[in-house]
Amino acid sequence: MTTHPEAASLENLLHEERSFAPSPAFAAQANAQPSLYADAAADRLGFWADQARDLVSWHTPFTQTLDWTDAPVARWFADGTLNAAYNAVDRHVEAGRGDRVALHFEGEPGDTRTVTYADLQRDVARAANALAALGVAKGDRVVIYLPMLVESVVAMLACARIGAVHSVVFGGFSADALRSRIADAEAKLVITADGGYRRGAPSALKPAVDEALDGEGTDTVKHVLVVRRTGQDTAWTQGRDIWWDDALESADTFHEPVWVDAEHPLFILYTSGTTGKPKGILHTTGGYLTQCAYTHKYVFDLKDDDVYWCTADIGWVTGHSYVVYGPLANGATQVIYEGTPDTPHRGRWWELIEKYGVSILYTAPTAIRTCMKWGEDIPAGFDLSSLRVLGSVGEPINPEAWMWYRRVIGGDTAPIVDTWWQTETGAIMISPLPGVTATKPGSAQVPLPGIAADVVDDDARSVPDGGGGYLVLTEPWPSMLRGIWGDRQRYEDTYWSRWKGLYFAGDGAKKDDDGDVWLLGRVDDVMNVSGHRLSTTEIESALVSHDIVAEAAVVGANDDMTGQAVVAFVILRGEHADRAATPEGAAEVQQELRNHVAKEIGPIAKPKRILVVPELPKTRSGKIMRRLLRDVAENRAVGDATTLADASVMTLISDGLTATKSADD
Ligand code: WT7
Repeated sequence: MTTHPEAASLENLLHEERSFAPSPAFAAQANAQPSLYADAAADRLGFWADQARDLVSWHTPFTQTLDWTDAPVARWFADGTLNAAYNAVDRHVEAGRGDRVALHFEGEPGDTRTVTYADLQRDVARAANALAALGVAKGDRVVIYLPMLVESVVAMLACARIGAVHSVVFGGFSADALRSRIADAEAKLVITADGGYRRGAPSALKPAVDEALDGEGTDTVKHVLVVRRTGQDTAWTQGRDIWWDDALESADTFHEPVWVDAEHPLFILYTSGTTGKPKGILHTTGGYLTQCAYTHKYVFDLKDDDVYWCTADIGWVTGHSYVVYGPLANGATQVIYEGTPDTPHRGRWWELIEKYGVSILYTAPTAIRTCMKWGEDIPAGFDLSSLRVLGSVGEPINPEAWMWYRRVIGGDTAPIVDTWWQTETGAIMISPLPGVTATKPGSAQVPLPGIAADVVDDDARSVPDGGGGYLVLTEPWPSMLRGIWGDRQRYEDTYWSRWKGLYFAGDGAKKDDDGDVWLLGRVDDVMNVSGHRLSTTEIESALVSHDIVAEAAVVGANDDMTGQAVVAFVILRGEHADRAATPEGAAEVQQELRNHVAKEIGPIAKPKRILVVPELPKTRSGKIMRRLLRDVAENRAVGDATTLADASVMTLISDGLTATKSADD
């Protein structure tokens, strides 16, 4: 494989010798036992069928486990019927656990709400009736564009309850991004809020929905349900817009779940790919729910008295699988928090852990690094002794952050599970099992029991221990995506065309001498910024859609805090080129372009740096050599440039940059 800069800088990880064996006390009580691996290895499909029967309630039991005849589209447990919302809520109430707290909601301003499973059942039933009354039926798509609220969870479950397909769009995405997702899914309904609280102030959401619905391709939307959160003034379209509370108030609290086939679509979630157009990743019901519940139980060692907190927003897959479906299917008690970690102070998370006695925390490396930067005296001011399992997800975790997480947050005892997975995999695939695996700082280590993964070279040959290559999944798994919404060909091309019969994840990986897997970052045009997936091509398209930009190239440069940072190189159109000649002019152009990207995609996609250049490095066939641009962005000597069509381009770029440097830094 081509060695990526990340791979090179992570090389020394493989000489990591620290390892933390599980304590005998933890191992003795752990859900996971070493026999789990042996059981799964002895009969992989039988193992999954057992999980599906143990952890999920079926309306009609299934008799077939896997049907792979339409590969690469899998069918799991296909002749069974079930309902995901019934599994997440009702069955716990029926089992006499209605008084158990499902959600401890904490709003950013400090307002709280305690929601039991019985409360959740009432609300979900009401919302399901309300959706049905608005004409939403089985198979219809509903777009959910909400902050982290109890209603967000209820809205997702209400869709699942009637067999409608939810498509949650992260509240930080722009009106344009929302519009294209509504149009692609041909949604019938949008559920949003007047606004949410962000960094101490109300921040409006509804205007973005209004703008999106003014745009092309959104005529399918008949109604907008609006949750009242901030109470701010909200423009209203009579006949189309309805307050959530009004719709629920008049709705009955009884609702018979719509039993669906195991392969009925549960949700679509858009994620960035290597082209400009986001992909609608499709997940179905039975296999997805099985793997969410299974991984949540074993990877986090969930017990009855645990208080679990996953800090992810429901706008990402982590929020789907590890705030909504996994924990609720397992009847967990969890914390959900609306705001940012530093509002109103930098100890907010640790304060919440102390307040609710959180015992399992699942978060992202970027958050851990930010807390490291703020200093360990902040968490030291709170009682974190309730924590007993710590999870990490979204990007490779560097050993320093891992060690800090373990020592400062985990009191040197809580096992860390570094969990590798993707929107496409639906649930965790590679992770240590607490109580079983001796953990290593920075490695996701081993495929879970039932999961088959490998690291292969360019010719799909399994690399030996100590070798590097591409991460692949070699057998279908229950929560795998069933395709890209409306585009089977793109599904096959993206994931299955590189090597026959192997799922290509897009990540570089290595095996250490023990055969443990180390993830090394993406090997395609996808960036990972603070654990969020962004496409270089998508940001390039946003940049060139601005009048002053002639050409753009985007790279993900290593960043101490966010993992990668978006760095853009732009060529301005003729008459505008002069504007960037002075430091003030360049700063102005950069600001204008940053705002433009925020408008086109969302603030998360804003380039950290925009460098105005006279040329871009291209091969003779016209392909931009991003590798060289990355060298520039990371202040390295530029690597091998012999394949450039015009070798002087890199000098031109470097000289130009020295001249404008003061404007960027
Ligand atoms: C990409 C998937 C999985 C939910 C959040 C992100 C990277 C994810 C890890 C990890 C190293 C990781 C990969 C992957 N990634 N977890 N533990 N170690 N890299 O989901 O937005 O679909 O992104 O995130 O590059 O392909 P996503």
